Amino acid sequence: MKIIFVLSLVLINVSVFGQTMNDINIVPVPAEMKVQPSAKFEINNNTELVLEGSGLERSATFFNDYLQQFYGFKLKMTKKNTAKNAIILNYERLDNILPGAYTLKVNNNGVSIAGDNETGVFYGIQTLLQLLPVTVNYKQPILNHILSIPQIEIKDYPRFAYRGMHLDVCRHFFPVDYVKKYIDYLAFYKFNTFHWHLTDDQGWRIEIKKYPKLTAVGSCRKRTLIGRYGSNKYDSIRYCGYYTQDDIKEIVKYAADRYITVIPEIEMPGHATAALASYPFLGCTKGPYEVMDTWGGSPDPFCPGNDSTYTFLENVLDEVMQLFPSKYIHIGGDECPKERWKTCPVCQKRIKTEGLKNEHELQSYFVRRIEKYINGKGRQIIGWDEILEGGLAPNATVMSWRGEEGGITAARQQHNVIMTPGTYCYLDHSQSKNEDSVTIGGYLPLETVYNYEPIPKQLNAQEAKYIMGAQGNLWTEYISNPRKVEYMIFPRMSALSEVLWSPKGKRDWQDFQRRLPVTYTRYREWGTNYSTAFYDLQSSILPTTNYNGVLLKLESKSKNGKIIYVKGLTTNATFNYSDPILISASGNYGGALTAANHKIISNWLWQTFSFNKATGKKITLKDQPASNYPGSGAFTLVNGIITEKKLSQSSEWLGFLGKDIEAVVDLGSNQDINGITLDVLNQEGSWIYLPASVEFLTSENGQNFSPQGILKPGTNGNWLNERKIGIKLHAVTARYVKVIAKNFGIIPAGKPGSGTAAWLFADEIEVQ
Ligand code: ACM
Ligand code: ZN
Repeated sequence: MKIIFVLSLVLINVSVFGQTMNDINIVPVPAEMKVQPSAKFEINNNTELVLEGSGLERSATFFNDYLQQFYGFKLKMTKKNTAKNAIILNYERLDNILPGAYTLKVNNNGVSIAGDNETGVFYGIQTLLQLLPVTVNYKQPILNHILSIPQIEIKDYPRFAYRGMHLDVCRHFFPVDYVKKYIDYLAFYKFNTFHWHLTDDQGWRIEIKKYPKLTAVGSCRKRTLIGRYGSNKYDSIRYCGYYTQDDIKEIVKYAADRYITVIPEIEMPGHATAALASYPFLGCTKGPYEVMDTWGGSPDPFCPGNDSTYTFLENVLDEVMQLFPSKYIHIGGDECPKERWKTCPVCQKRIKTEGLKNEHELQSYFVRRIEKYINGKGRQIIGWDEILEGGLAPNATVMSWRGEEGGITAARQQHNVIMTPGTYCYLDHSQSKNEDSVTIGGYLPLETVYNYEPIPKQLNAQEAKYIMGAQGNLWTEYISNPRKVEYMIFPRMSALSEVLWSPKGKRDWQDFQRRLPVTYTRYREWGTNYSTAFYDLQSSILPTTNYNGVLLKLESKSKNGKIIYVKGLTTNATFNYSDPILISASGNYGGALTAANHKIISNWLWQTFSFNKATGKKITLKDQPASNYPGSGAFTLVNGIITEKKLSQSSEWLGFLGKDIEAVVDLGSNQDINGITLDVLNQEGSWIYLPASVEFLTSENGQNFSPQGILKPGTNGNWLNERKIGIKLHAVTARYVKVIAKNFGIIPAGKPGSGTAAWLFADEIEVQ
């Protein structure tokens, strides 16, 4: 180890002028950082890139390629430090148990990056890239190839060993060049694992030499669903795509050059339709099968009764393990329907001969047998949290996706865990409440990703050691092209990088927001798409203190611009927004953000109020909604907004996971009531089900309630439509209205989310 620069100047953290911490925009934020106010170093044509240690060529080349691509010049690489004006790469022993620690120092003479190992130097380079000036018109400031960077001292190291991003290439296929671009994004944000989801019901995307039909047949579907799951509309375009083994080798090397491990996922025993369509002997019914053209699962998994299934999978895995040097092989294991196994004679025979209790144990037998094979080749398996059912295979790592529970259970059984719960890590969920494009559903805003803590609160320190890290998942049912990929991952993946890399105590949501505009500029410099949902104009509807009318509050997190609004649709008059607007009757309101020159710089946000006797009145809920779908609490059910968008991410929906709704509205005085309705959402693809029943009651005193009717879906003519459940009343006088909606219960087999509790989503209670 050699200390190249001795910083003799006094370093301070803040300054009122010159370079300050406020000009440093590194994501993920480094562990330790000191800035030299107003002092700069200039990288120019004469700066030399000095490789003092061995094995640093990959980092140096990466840096030079980036300079060339985005700033139009390269540095001379040397082995010895002859120049004063230099970027020196070297090693330094740093006491961090995880690989990737580094120090980065910039002073008058140049830059020194010292890594604990090769990976550390590479991460030091990523940080240096974030010190370079960022501008979309990058050709302008580098006319004379001068890049001015702040003088700074950084010591940095990763918090978690596993920092992953996933990509589903089955629902939609992405070409080799784009997969490389995706890997570059991972590298820039210091992720170290790319989880490549290569096989599924809708396509088999990896060439296997021994089984050519997997790609000849399994890589094509005859058409694709249009719109949301359940739409029953299709295009008429044959959709194909797969990676040759040469493609895969190229990508694995490309990732390794960026210190990223590629973990392949070969799905089993469920999500196997593309394989079954290619080789029908692999299924219980022997087919024929077709590669799926719609989303959601198929009823046909691999047959775990037949020995030929294992022979096939072992042969496939042999080729997979040849291609992928990763310690871990992901074998899927999620959402496997077990109905076929119940009626399959060889499956039932297997259950008997192996002394298994049921089909869950048959799945466990299957996973253990595959694990044993993979362990025999010196590798380990990862499976989705369903592999806990029927007993965990002895050495398996669990990827917790249906929440945190799978991860908690596995950690307590002393198994390694990767956290990827849908509510924090599913980047296919919407990030905007005003999302215009179709997404799978859900609502996962930037702030929620940023504030995710991968170590579940329930675990003690010993158990917490099994949490290796976390991962962002990108399922691509509704993501058919690279621009949409980028729109979905950015900026949320940048936020996740800070969760995974930075010390917990360094995470600071306010400071991340400060760095966001530069982060956006960098995406633009790359020519990368991204979502600006974070700056959308937001509206919230608030109660009034006297329960007369409601208040419309408009806000934006953008520091630029003023909010204006319009009332109704018949006048062009605009008003400057200052305080929440009192609304006391049905009508339309629109808001927008304007710049100093009065030019509108946001989309118009519209709210349509629909008043009834319950609007704005006092309401209480027996159980509160889930924390990720809270709306504005119970009041949302009487706020006068009936959302037109059947999208679960709208803040108009209150979501209840596995729970009932029991609400009481106080109308303020006795009134003649002619009808009561409850608005609900039916979106099985997002695990949201209609209630099992809805009961309506009324009371004059709030104590004694009279039942007015109970409705069940499909059995009662009074159920108005799939969206609105209600009863008509005659000559009922009451001050209090009670609505009890019973949750659907457990999602049945064969449906997305089967086996978990259903969501119940409600929007509004209306009283006529
Ligand atoms: C999954 O999202 N089905 C693991
Ligand atoms: Zn079978």
